[in-house]
Amino acid sequence: MARIVAMPGPTASTAPAGRTRTLAQVYRQFGEVEAAGSSPLYERVAVALSESDEALRAIETAPARKRHPTVILAALYDLALAGRAPALAAAYAAADGDAAADAAIDTLLRMTDLVVATAVRRQPRPNETGRCAVLYPAIAEAAHRVGANAVGLIDVGCSAGLNLSVDRVGITYSDGQSLGDQSSPVQLSASIVGDRPVPGRAMPQVAARVGVDLDPVDVTDADDARWLRACLWPDQPERAARLDAEMALAATAPPVLLHGDAVEVLPDAFASVPLDALPVVITTWSLSHFPLESRLRFLYRLEGTGAGRTVAWVSVEGVGVAPAIPTFGDRRASGHSIIGLAVFEHSTLRAEAVGRCWSRGRLLAWLAGS
Ligand SMILES: C[S@@+](CC[C@H](N)C(=O)[O-])C[C@H]1O[C@@H](n2cnc3c(N)ncnc32)[C@H](O)[C@@H]1O
Repeated sequence: MARIVAMPGPTASTAPAGRTRTLAQVYRQFGEVEAAGSSPLYERVAVALSESDEALRAIETAPARKRHPTVILAALYDLALAGRAPALAAAYAAADGDAAADAAIDTLLRMTDLVVATAVRRQPRPNETGRCAVLYPAIAEAAHRVGANAVGLIDVGCSAGLNLSVDRVGITYSDGQSLGDQSSPVQLSASIVGDRPVPGRAMPQVAARVGVDLDPVDVTDADDARWLRACLWPDQPERAARLDAEMALAATAPPVLLHGDAVEVLPDAFASVPLDALPVVITTWSLSHFPLESRLRFLYRLEGTGAGRTVAWVSVEGVGVAPAIPTFGDRRASGHSIIGLAVFEHSTLRAEAVGRCWSRGRLLAWLAGS
């Protein structure tokens, strides 16, 4: 079996913020470095929060791991989208940074308990759209390699399960090639790196859509859907429109959502896939959230759960994160991800890296022979 490498460190969104002084620095840095250039509204609001002792004290009533700006700003935006913070909603809609800063502090101070409760209950979920441009050719390739006429998709670490609409979107690549449903309300684009096109095979029939997550998001639930929107920044209308379109499409064929640890829940997920369909497990940037030992147990579970069935696993994970998937010799933390394709058949595992991708799948290089 291929080597397994150590987990990367905690993401910014989970970093503990520490004492008030440090918290002020975290908010200032978020505004001046992370939001600057992308979100003038969040730049202004985060800096204003960093300069308000009252606001920082309110944020400090949240557990340390829930004080980061990504969670607190999303919790505030969630209140605005729910109609419970009209001044903040109006300021965001008008792209008025000064008014947004005042309204954010006012909302936080008036509704501290609600903001903190939302931050505690929810995970930040920024930018979950657009993975299908990478997944589509890899899933179609998996089905082709084992001669499957139907697949059952099992998205592990699915969050809102947007990947599970992969056969129902249209994709146009920068080399002019297209895949999927060109009349779909969701049209994605991706840039091809290098000379090789992605394989042009169509996806076979999708016989089951199953999402597995410790904390799945149900796009048919108004509160869940609003939280996904609230995790985007309020001055990024293109991202919001793309998310809305992907959520609306997913809601027309909602997946079965299985709540729990992937290793425990996978047998139920396989049981949801008809016997004449190939179970294709998908992971996109999920496994880095699993402890190293859990990643190995996940792999063994894939090998063992099929009970004689052929099973495929399509992974899109950071270099060295997906156990058993080769890495082209790339260094870890290189800034790109490896597209992996593994097939478990007749007690044999065939695992291959089929490409690289960048920017959560907006650029990809297909490298496998087909
Ligand atoms: C960074 S998100 C990735 C979400 C999605 N796959 C994507 O591409 O955006 C990681 C997801 O894995 C889920 N997760 C973490 N550990 C898990 C576990 N042991 N079993 C199932 N899901 C898990 C988290 O709840 C979270 O939704």
